[in-house]
Amino acid sequence: MSARDRDWDGVRLHVVTGKGGTGKTTLAASLALALASGGKKVLLVEVEGRQGIAQLFRCPALPYEERRVATAVGGGDVHALAVDAEAALLDYLEMFYGMRRAGQALTRFGVVDFATTIAPGMRDVLLTGKATEAVRRRARTRKDRGARRDTAKAPFVYDAVVLDAPPTGRIAQFLNVNAEVAGLARVGPIRNHADRVMEVIRSPETRVHFVTILEEMPVQECLDGIAQVSEVGLGIGGIMVNMVRDPLLPPGALAAAAEQHVDTEALAQGLKSAGLKDAGQLAGALSGELVEHARRVRMEAEVRERLNEAARPCYELPLITGDLDLPGLHRLAGVLREQGAA
Ligand SMILES: Nc1ncnc2c1ncn2[C@@H]1O[C@H](COP(=O)(O)OP(=O)(O)OP(=O)(O)O)[C@@H](O)[C@H]1O
Ligand SMILES: [Mg+2]
Repeated sequence: MSARDRDWDGVRLHVVTGKGGTGKTTLAASLALALASGGKKVLLVEVEGRQGIAQLFRCPALPYEERRVATAVGGGDVHALAVDAEAALLDYLEMFYGMRRAGQALTRFGVVDFATTIAPGMRDVLLTGKATEAVRRRARTRKDRGARRDTAKAPFVYDAVVLDAPPTGRIAQFLNVNAEVAGLARVGPIRNHADRVMEVIRSPETRVHFVTILEEMPVQECLDGIAQVSEVGLGIGGIMVNMVRDPLLPPGALAAAAEQHVDTEALAQGLKSAGLKDAGQLAGALSGELVEHARRVRMEAEVRERLNEAARPCYELPLITGDLDLPGLHRLAGVLREQGAA
């Protein structure tokens, strides 16, 4: 494999957002496969509690534990983790107060519910905290290092972490945990935890990628999201234009069709000589579809122009026909690699 530069060399936390339903989970998984290829180890994290990753990789629901879900081209591994706020809170209580057992009792009394729903900022810091902990995690424990007295840092457990994040409307707030917990904790372990999370999220090692399809609303959300994420001082990654379809006609014919200039007569003749019945009626229906197609292609070109205004690297991912299964994900991963995203 050539050692050409990838667009995100040096980035270790890839956050994937976009309008709902545009393909965040699918492309987060594809990006994880692309980053893993050639022998890397990548963790794919989901935080919405929907088991989207398990569905995508056709595996049983993920427990709150990292599991290998796929092998990339050239031998890398993708591991996955479904973080849930309650389990993360128990982890956190244990880590900072050594009170896992108390935490489990708290669950029964609904205190965890209280902490995670009444204080949504707390919920987000727990979710992002888990992802950033995986980014920082190194192979050896402190004890090992002490025993060997070597000062060199152990390698990271994961070469990269990909976060299947909340949709664009929530992303700036979700990532800006510092502001979120500001009203909650000014000092103490929650504050320190939030600061450590923010350190990773604000570092050049973190990039936020935006998924969109070529329609007005998702593109508008994408541009608004980019503005909001930049405003809170976080690094913008690339734009992944998903479900791209090739135009069915050459540019000249498309431009004419968009203006309703379709030679229905000639179309009917063609259909007739191909031996089709009701050629006249069929030609009428087909030309209607042609005009619709041409207008959609024109609209797509317009929204693409708007995306260019963001001046970010754009990747174009094809619409996969049929079931989007593992081979489909590998195909999308291949496209991301060809286009330099990983
Ligand atoms: N390139 C593609 N080609 C074909 N189908 C796709 C493609 N990308 C995504 N899909 C399909 O579109 C649907 C939505 O994708 P996905 O679940 O990844 O979106 P999402 O943004 O994560 O949605 P949500 O906001 O609900 O989490 C799924 O059925 C998925 O299989
Ligand atoms: Mg999803």
